[in-house]
Amino acid sequence: MAKTVLIRLDVNGEKRELAVPSQRTLLEALRYDLGLTGSKQGCDKGDCGACTVLADGEPILSCITLAADAQDRRITTIEGLAGPQGLDEVQRAFADCGALQCGFCQPGMMLSARALLNSCPKPSLDQIKHALSGNLCRCTGYTKIYEAVQVAAGMRAASDRKPVQSERAEASDSVAHAPKEFAP
Ligand code: FES
Ligand code: FES
Repeated sequence: MAKTVLIRLDVNGEKRELAVPSQRTLLEALRYDLGLTGSKQGCDKGDCGACTVLADGEPILSCITLAADAQDRRITTIEGLAGPQGLDEVQRAFADCGALQCGFCQPGMMLSARALLNSCPKPSLDQIKHALSGNLCRCTGYTKIYEAVQVAAGMRAASDRKPVQSERAEASDSVAHAPKEFAP
């Protein structure tokens, strides 16, 4: 049976004390012991970045970090990103740019973006791509995400691109659309 250990975490500015199995990951402690479900459990093996949180301002993968090893660090989850003034610029920019679809990657993506802007307030596109390269998104195609980081950095305005109009598809089987007559 797993040994239980007593740990102290500093999460979003609050000190929390928990008794957890010694192999409890930080992600499990956040989601299942503290109820902070903003950090997502994607691959659970360090590949997708959905579980990204900040430790002393640096992005880390909470699914491959033991909760016990996070004790001496200031942990910030997506729940702690907004401040007394409201949403963080990164959150606002992602919303303004429509840089999200299903939202599963977004907490990790936004925290990686925040860490980048804290260390490099005016990043180049290559720096943005590099900083977010550990965060996978299966919906957006990344373009709007990169744009959102530039908007959050004050380097451009959110574009007012109209949504792409899809063209009316040809009927795949014109015969099927022709009115049919049935003999009584
Ligand atoms: S859930 Fe942690 S990297 Fe995928
Ligand atoms: S918005 Fe769905 S995975 Fe990124």
